[in-house]
Amino acid sequence: MLRLEAIDAAYDGTRVLWGVGLEAKAGATTVIVGPNGAGKSTVLNVVTGLLRPSGGRVLFKDEDITRLPAHARPERGIAACPEGRRLFPQLTAEANLRLGAYTRRARKDADATLARVYELFPRIRQRARVKASRLSGGEQQMVGIGRALMARPDLLVLDEPSLGLAPKVVTEIFETIRRLREAGLTVLMVEQNAYQALRVADYGYVMQEGRVAKAGPPDELLDLEELRRSYFAIS
Ligand SMILES: Nc1ncnc2c1ncn2[C@@H]1O[C@H](COP(=O)(O)OP(=O)(O)O)[C@@H](O)[C@H]1O
Ligand SMILES: [Mg+2]
Repeated sequence: MLRLEAIDAAYDGTRVLWGVGLEAKAGATTVIVGPNGAGKSTVLNVVTGLLRPSGGRVLFKDEDITRLPAHARPERGIAACPEGRRLFPQLTAEANLRLGAYTRRARKDADATLARVYELFPRIRQRARVKASRLSGGEQQMVGIGRALMARPDLLVLDEPSLGLAPKVVTEIFETIRRLREAGLTVLMVEQNAYQALRVADYGYVMQEGRVAKAGPPDELLDLEELRRSYFAIS
């Protein structure tokens, strides 16, 4: 569904991505893991169009979208929940969700999509009238993912959905992502929580210093992760 070919990218002339190639297959969950500063969010910025690459191509549904502006991408079927969610704090949970349904492809079915989002996140249905600023971190993350789903994307892009959440909530978020995959959605997700992310993934990429250092099915990468853990004895 999505393919990045030899992507180079820079911020104000400072190079951060070097020949990144990766693929997110239709119906699969693809995870990008790697340390802070490795370039994971930058890859997502290239996918959503917030950053135009200085080299390489972005293909989505067999079309070259490298130069397609960010605002046109949701209409093509790409919706993202950015790192830190960026909800409107003074709006209710439901108002934030409805804002996601601004695309032509989503607008007419917004009520039905909202019902589906509430099925996925029953807790948010109960908190529908609560201002986003008063929701817990986990609830805010659910609203952020739900808002992206309201655009009825073919490709859901998630940046660090587990960041800053309590372990129990993290498990809940990954369980939701597993259910989205079961429903047939294509997911591209960035995570520092490599272990749990890889366990819900079909394919993984490990990024280091702006490059893809390793790619493979999760069990291969999890073996590496186990090795790293036992070596450095960190949890
Ligand atoms: N908006 C920006 N302007 C300038 N440099 C940035 C910007 N965003 C990220 N960077 C730099 O690009 C590199 C990769 O960052 P990022 O893609 O955010 O990494 P990750 O998401 O893996 O933590 C880092 O060195 C970071 O400091
Ligand atoms: Mg990041």
